[in-house]
Amino acid sequence: MSVKPGLEGVVAAETKISHVDGERGRLIYRGHRAEDLARTRSLEEVAFLLWNGVLPDSGERETIRREWASARVLPGYLKDLIAAIPREVEMTDVIRTAVSALGSASFEGPPTREQAIRIAAVLPTIIAFRRHHLAGSEPPEARSDLSHVAHYLYLLRGEVPSPAHVRALETYFVLTAEHGMNASTFAARVVTSTRSDLISAIVAAIGALKGPLHGGAPAGVESMLDEIGAEERIEPWIRKRLERNERLMGFGHRIYKTEDPRAAALREIAVRLAAGEPWFRLAVRVEEEALRLLGEYKPGRRIHTNVEYYAAAVFRAVGLPKELFTPTFICSRIVGWAAHAMEQAESNRLIRPDAVYIGPMPG
Ligand code: CMC
Repeated sequence: MSVKPGLEGVVAAETKISHVDGERGRLIYRGHRAEDLARTRSLEEVAFLLWNGVLPDSGERETIRREWASARVLPGYLKDLIAAIPREVEMTDVIRTAVSALGSASFEGPPTREQAIRIAAVLPTIIAFRRHHLAGSEPPEARSDLSHVAHYLYLLRGEVPSPAHVRALETYFVLTAEHGMNASTFAARVVTSTRSDLISAIVAAIGALKGPLHGGAPAGVESMLDEIGAEERIEPWIRKRLERNERLMGFGHRIYKTEDPRAAALREIAVRLAAGEPWFRLAVRVEEEALRLLGEYKPGRRIHTNVEYYAAAVFRAVGLPKELFTPTFICSRIVGWAAHAMEQAESNRLIRPDAVYIGPMPG
């Protein structure tokens, strides 16, 4: 039996949801290029596509708008629970706990689109409630006339965001809603394969996503840029890290061996919003130097900029603080997790790999 560390190259399922073409740098959602969808579509429309296989028509668009909007309100018991969590607990852990507490009899059985909307739509409200609670302020009243992404920014800021900021964040949400058999999606499929419920699958996925090698990376990008701070420090800072064989956050990918198409699309958005800002000029210079030095220290590894690098720039440009980077990724990727949970349940086989025992045997 040959062992594949990290299950690299192991094909664990057939899927109709998305195709990640790492050699050509393409990401396809149900036959559509993700970058094309990201230019005009809302997260709700892309969720409909990923869950149903087709884009919504105008009547369906209105229905899903209403469905998502009506699932935004936080139940009272959840407010009490979130308020009781000690303030030093990070937002990602708060979300994981709150989602777990949403579990009830209505989430029993195979995962459904209606259940998926109920979880996805309430995530921004959980985040906003927690932030306002810690700040001693009241979150604004939920509104039903804003898209999911616009409403997220509205809840955080207390005012309706500009169309440019909504489009920028919507682009991020659409581009990161789904990405094949990544670690968190696999975790969701493993849980679903035991015929457990959708809440449990999402809780497991959040646990997998928060690690710095997966969804924790954009906050790492922001910390790296903060630490570097000035152009003359870029090269020595990066060399020091690479000499110690440390990772540079926002670079490298298990599947993409060319540029991540999501990074290119988010770079375009970030340039539009922040080209004149000193922090953005520094980010561009750090990227250039990092790619040059990765080529020197890791020759032949084909390491490129990944989605997290420019996700951090887009988040900063729309005013999201570092502690909300991974939570925001949860808000988008939940769509892909739910799609995979539904697909797994539709044609299920218990996921149960094997291991080779290399310990001692009894004498
Ligand atoms: N910085 C420095 N060296 C790197 C990096 C990096 N960011 N990425 C890969 N390498 C090197 C690594 O040290 C190794 O070198 P060597 O062969 O000399 O030991 C070689 O490249 C291959 O690395 P690997 O760990 O075998 O490759 P992987 O396929 O497991 O890595 C990765 C994928 C994302 C874990 C890795 O590139 C990494 O740690 N990146 C930094 C964290 C990051 O940005 N994560 C976000 C990923 S994109 C979002 C997502 O899908 O969740």
